[in-house]
Amino acid sequence: MSEITQRQKLRKAVYPGSFDPITNGHVDIIKRGLKIFDSILVAVLENPKKKPLFSTKERVSIIQDVFAGQKNTEVKSFHGLLIDFVKKNKARVVIRGLRAISDFEYEFQMALMNMKLDPEIETFFMMPNLSYSFLSSNLVKEIYMLGGCLKGLVPEQVEKKLRGKFKVKRPSLNP
Ligand code: PNS
Repeated sequence: MSEITQRQKLRKAVYPGSFDPITNGHVDIIKRGLKIFDSILVAVLENPKKKPLFSTKERVSIIQDVFAGQKNTEVKSFHGLLIDFVKKNKARVVIRGLRAISDFEYEFQMALMNMKLDPEIETFFMMPNLSYSFLSSNLVKEIYMLGGCLKGLVPEQVEKKLRGKFKVKRPSLNP
């Protein structure tokens, strides 16, 4: 047994992702996850290969802003193997959201590979609230760029950041 105590095992869960940007679907998973775990460490992937819209620093800062004042939520960036980050942060559970069957194959592969790399670390899947099961960061970016409405899809901090980054001409409803 590692230095992780029995109590620590249940205490902290890591919620990793690209969060480019965080959506209300992610926020829902974090809020509901906090009813199960004492604290959640949101782990933002630092991966220049993925060419994110928001820099790692921006993504971390947006999430920190969304959960400002919430003591049991922490946000850090990471690179390298997720399981190494989880161990370094003395956690044992990884939370992943599972929206649809299309997510399943990738999530299944990742969970099993992480289990192979370290059988002490468990992946905990959560279904998003039905109203967010169609939501993804990529769709959010596309909708914004094409002048669509993001109301109810992302926290206001994300919309503000998007507006600061790109000036998108809103389509006129009147011909
Ligand atoms: O939001 P995403 O892009 O679906 O999150 C994917 C993430 C960050 C969970 C995954 O890419 C990851 O864990 N990357 C770290 C590298 C790693 O550990 N790879 C092996 C996973 S089996």
